[in-house]
Amino acid sequence: MPPVDETPLILVSNRGPITFDRDASGEPTRERGGGGLVTALLGLLEHAPALWISAAITEEEREVASDHGAAGFPMDEIGRKTRGLLVDIDEEAYDLYYNTVANPLLWFIQHYLWDLSNHPDIRQEELDAWENGYLVANTAFADAIIAQLDAQPGALVMMHDYHLYTAPEEVRRAHPDAFLHFFVHIPWSQPDYWRVLPPHIREHIVRGLLSCDIVAFHTRRYARNFLMTCEDLLGLPVSYDRGSVRVDGRTVWIRSYPISVNAPMFDDLAASTEVKAHEAPLLRRRRQHLIVRVDRTDLSKNILRGFKAYDALLDEHPEFREDITFVALLQPSRQDVVEYATYLEKIRQRVSYINTKHGNTDWMPIDLRIQSNIHAAVALYKHYDVLLVNAVFDGMNLVAKEAPLVNERDGVLILSENVGAHEELGSYAISVNPFDVRAQTDALYEALSMSSAERAARARSIQEVVREKDIVRWLDDQVADIQAKREAL
Ligand code: G6P
Repeated sequence: MPPVDETPLILVSNRGPITFDRDASGEPTRERGGGGLVTALLGLLEHAPALWISAAITEEEREVASDHGAAGFPMDEIGRKTRGLLVDIDEEAYDLYYNTVANPLLWFIQHYLWDLSNHPDIRQEELDAWENGYLVANTAFADAIIAQLDAQPGALVMMHDYHLYTAPEEVRRAHPDAFLHFFVHIPWSQPDYWRVLPPHIREHIVRGLLSCDIVAFHTRRYARNFLMTCEDLLGLPVSYDRGSVRVDGRTVWIRSYPISVNAPMFDDLAASTEVKAHEAPLLRRRRQHLIVRVDRTDLSKNILRGFKAYDALLDEHPEFREDITFVALLQPSRQDVVEYATYLEKIRQRVSYINTKHGNTDWMPIDLRIQSNIHAAVALYKHYDVLLVNAVFDGMNLVAKEAPLVNERDGVLILSENVGAHEELGSYAISVNPFDVRAQTDALYEALSMSSAERAARARSIQEVVREKDIVRWLDDQVADIQAKREAL
């Protein structure tokens, strides 16, 4: 058996690392996504031949899927030995899978976002979306994986995230000896919250995951919640000490590996001309203090409470008026899901309320930018005085690691106690409870008035942690466990 980093890899995620689309003039475009997962996996892709299976999401991708079929296409921008394979899922099924089940149903459960006295209703519609959407999409993924394993049975299958919970069970049935690895990139909520779902659905999800050899999370807290879920909802024997579950005569390892960033890559990005082009206008327009947040417009990110806290700060500390700007760079997300579209609308309304209330013709308290632009984001990372990461719950939150790495002003990190990054960075940040608006106002004030010595010491510590526990470590720890688990089989 070759070592893990030379074993052929089959990577699977709903969204692939390359997006095929058309620009305004109708010309086909091919773009590498800036997502953390692609960057994180680059280390593995250097050595082993890999196939990255993902869903055909855009029209253009459906065409690519039908042009290339099961042979896939080269993905040279990701790795010399990497190919891509797009799974064409019936459009209606994809819509139910992505827009009804994965987001919002599962995403909201795993981030505790449901207001349970009112939502969700599990009606025939949702049950149908499960059967005719989620399961159909997962079968399409499973079939693609199975076909690849038929051709190379020794390949290592690594599946990613909440879109793919039921696929592993089908793969296991077809290939009982395959090595299946699953990484859940979002929180795992506590067992009772999973009772929102009818028993057959929640048990199917957990059994699907338990068809793998290793199930991985970002933090010990999520791994523990998963073990509790196996015990409480399925009555399975679990070991909290060893991090394992016994099921159908197999032992499944439940582990945590906090994902991180590629520090040298971020250093290069920070020094790039593209980022410099965004810095110039930022520096021209900046006031004395700059508060920054960079997020998708996701309900889990807690954007509204962040603005409420800032509103109260301006009420209580008029001395900051005109000396401060809050730049919120927000990437629109999942706008076909009604809750997300409403949320973005509420964000716009809140910003216009605060800007009207406190601003004047010369000064806009909040500079809201609804766009996705990594270079603009890194320019903000370099110059913030305060970075606000106040998510309700968040799997890891890579912004909390990326931004301090390249920040040049000893900026202060305000960090929600419910994001994965808090396990590593909480002691050096100003830690906040994400629901406590009062505490967030106080945290903003504390950050803005902190002594330069303390700012420097905290910023240095965060950088040290991120550089030491970087992306190489994230991969190495997983590879070591995969090796050990394969030997234990
Ligand atoms: C989170 C999830 C990813 C997802 C990403 C963007 O980070 O863990 O699986 O790809 O959000 O969301 P989207 O729905 O646009 O793929």
